[in-house]
Formats: sequence, structure tokens, C-alpha cells
Amino acid sequence: MKVAIPKEITEAERRVALVPHLVPELRRLGCTVLMEKGAGSGAFYTDENYQDVEFVANRDVLFQQSEVILKVDAPTQDEIKHFQSNAVLIGMLSPHRYQDRIQALCERRITSFAMEFIPRISRAQSMDALSSQATIAGYKAVLLAANMQQRLFPMLTTAAGTIRPVNVLVIGAGVAGLQAIATARRLGGIVKAYDIRSAAREQVESLGAKMVTIDIKAEGAGGYARELTAEEKQLQQQALFDAVAKAEVVISTASVPGKPAPKIISTQMVEAMTSGAVIIDASAQSGGNCELTQPDEIVMHGGVQIYGPTNLPAMVARDASNMYSKNVVNFLTLLIKEGKLAINWDDQIISDSVLTHAGDIKHAGTQAQIAAGNLQMKSGTLS
Ligand code: NAI
Repeated sequence: MKVAIPKEITEAERRVALVPHLVPELRRLGCTVLMEKGAGSGAFYTDENYQDVEFVANRDVLFQQSEVILKVDAPTQDEIKHFQSNAVLIGMLSPHRYQDRIQALCERRITSFAMEFIPRISRAQSMDALSSQATIAGYKAVLLAANMQQRLFPMLTTAAGTIRPVNVLVIGAGVAGLQAIATARRLGGIVKAYDIRSAAREQVESLGAKMVTIDIKAEGAGGYARELTAEEKQLQQQALFDAVAKAEVVISTASVPGKPAPKIISTQMVEAMTSGAVIIDASAQSGGNCELTQPDEIVMHGGVQIYGPTNLPAMVARDASNMYSKNVVNFLTLLIKEGKLAINWDDQIISDSVLTHAGDIKHAGTQAQIAAGNLQMKSGTLS
């Protein structure tokens, strides 16, 4: 079975879907790895680092020859055109962003699996790409803030005076937020955090941060947050005002599955912050938590810098690729037996993560979004 590893072509994407030390795992599954030259270069893996793979100079030929295609980002329409009909695609496919591409996958009868839909059950933890990439995002968000903030994070007592530690507020204490807390603490900041799930308190406190308490409990299905009502949003804004105003660094990671990121930091809140404060809006890809966020731009508002990078994991491409490709290879072991595709549609990990198959959209959440008119795609039947 031939498995393709193309170079990612999305702007600013530096990750690769397979790192060199995982090639032997695919070979043990009975696969031949076909690679585009330079596919690993964004993550500083040279072609020489990849042993026992076949390099294919022309990416269209690479796609035409392969039964399985491993990607980081959703393939473009032009890439999909060159896929074998009935090929298997694995990647972070973002159907809400790329409706036309998902339509093209249906038209080519591609069996596609979206890594972001892997269920968060114990058996699938080693395949949980959302978590592995969110961990990287939380870490990098703090390092960006530390670079942009003109104050030091730690307390320093020196002959040149005492520097007090920086005040950090982390909004949203899921996977990215918890890693942001841990990273900011390691740098020596005084960290507070806020989340609408009460379950987050214990995790926040176990990392040595203080929880900002607001009397809203918004646990939704499956351990995720639900969207707040209009009154709850207002209460939250009032209660968070002081915490944001006192923070010299804000890392915001709040998100609700399938919805645009909640707007939590208003312009008025930003105007109450001290000059020199920095906001890293790690939810910029889904619209941002701050009213002033512009994707991938540093916005200066009254002395406060607001930066919303839309692909934080790609800024730590090497380890993001290491973790992502481990997730992908673990997932592939479910699909391939003795060098052949053997897809067990009754396996929850497979049935939850399939996006398209045999010309139809199969993912229940995406089907629901189409039915609600939020996505403009022809939908098939769920089987
Ligand atoms: P996420 O990326 O969907 O959201 C990030 C955080 O934002 C969440 O903690 C959420 O509660 C918070 N949030 C949403 N709206 C907010 C608002 N208006 N104000 C403040 N905070 C807000 O979350 P993530 O990181 O994907 O984790 C979601 C849940 O999944 C967590 O309970 C986490 O512990 C759980 N999880 C379970 C795993 C497993 O069982 N294998 C693996 C990873 C996460």
C-alpha cells in the first residue's frame, strides 16, 4: 500500500504529516512511503533524514500513485483533483472553513478522516491531534507574549533594583490554556486563569494559578463548554473587567466546539489595561476572543498590543510535527492490517472521525451544520 506525504502548501504552514523516525512504523504496517522532495523542510527535516522512502519529484504523480494521503492541512481543490478516486485522506480538514474542498472530496469519492474529530475517549488519546496541537499552541502563545512584553516575567532582586513579576491572565483553561498557565508559571509570572467550566478550577489550581471566580457554570456536552446566554455574557464581561485591566499579559484560548470563538475581551477592557500590556489571542483562527483581534496582525490599541496568530503549532513546527505524525500513525494502525485497508466502520474512533466516504458527507456534526444552513454543501445520508 502506497502512502503519500506531500509538502504542505498552506501559507505559513511548516509542519509535515510524517516525521523520519516514524517511517519504520508505516513500513511495519506493510506500507511504502512516497514523499515529495522537501516535504519535511519546514520542520527542519532534510530529505536525507528520511530513510526507506521513495521520493517523487512531481506532486501530481505522488497523489496519483497513492492509496493513502497524509496531510496536516486540508488539501486544496487543485490537490484533490489529482487524488486517486476512492483514496483515503487523513488530515486536519476543517469542514467549516473549507466547504468547497469537502465538496470536492465527495465528488472524487475520497474516504477522508478529520483528525480534529477523533473522539476524546481513553482509547483514542494517542491519536488526539486537537490536544497535541493545542498543547503546542498554549506554550508558544506565552513565549510570543514574553517576547512582545517589554517587562520581564520573573521577579528579580538585583543590585539594580527589584523587578516585580508580570501579571498574567489566561482565559479558557482547556488543553491550550493549561499549557499556557504552566509555561507562564515556569517563566516566573503570577498567573490567574478563568474558565466557565467549574471542573477547570482543580486543574488551574494544581498548576499553581489562581482561578478568577464568576458565578456562571456552563458545562456543555462531552466535557466542553456551552455558549453563554446574552445575560451571562454581560455578567462575565463585568466580572472579568478588573482581571483584564490588571493583567500585563492576557493569553486567551476560549472556544466552543462548532461555534465562532466567544467575544470576551471588549474594546473598553483593552482601554482599561496599562500601556505595554500584551494580549495573545490564541482563538484567532475561529474569530478571536478579543473584539480588536485581526488574524495574524499585531494591532496596537492605546499602548496595548493584540496579536492573534492563526497557526501557533506551525510556529513550533518540529515538535508539532513529531506529535501530530505520532497521532496520525496511531490512527493508521486502526485502518491498515497486513498492508491492506481494513476499515471497521463499527469502531467509534473511525465512525466519529470519518468526514466523507463513497461520495457522501458522513460526519454527524457536519451534517447537522448543513441542515442548519451554516454550511453550504450538498449532504449525503448518514449510514
Ligand atoms: P476548547 O478548545 O473547546 O476550549 C478551550 C477552553 O475555553 C475550554 O476549557 C472551555 O471551557 C473554555 N471556554 C469556552 N467558552 C468560554 C468563555 N465564554 N469564557 C471562558 N472560557 C470559555 O477546549 P479543549 O482544550 O479542547 O478541552 C475541552 C474539554 O475536553 C476539557 O474538559 C478537557 O479537559 C477535555 N479533554 C478531554 C480529553 C480526553 O478525555 N481524552 C483530551 C483533551 C481534552
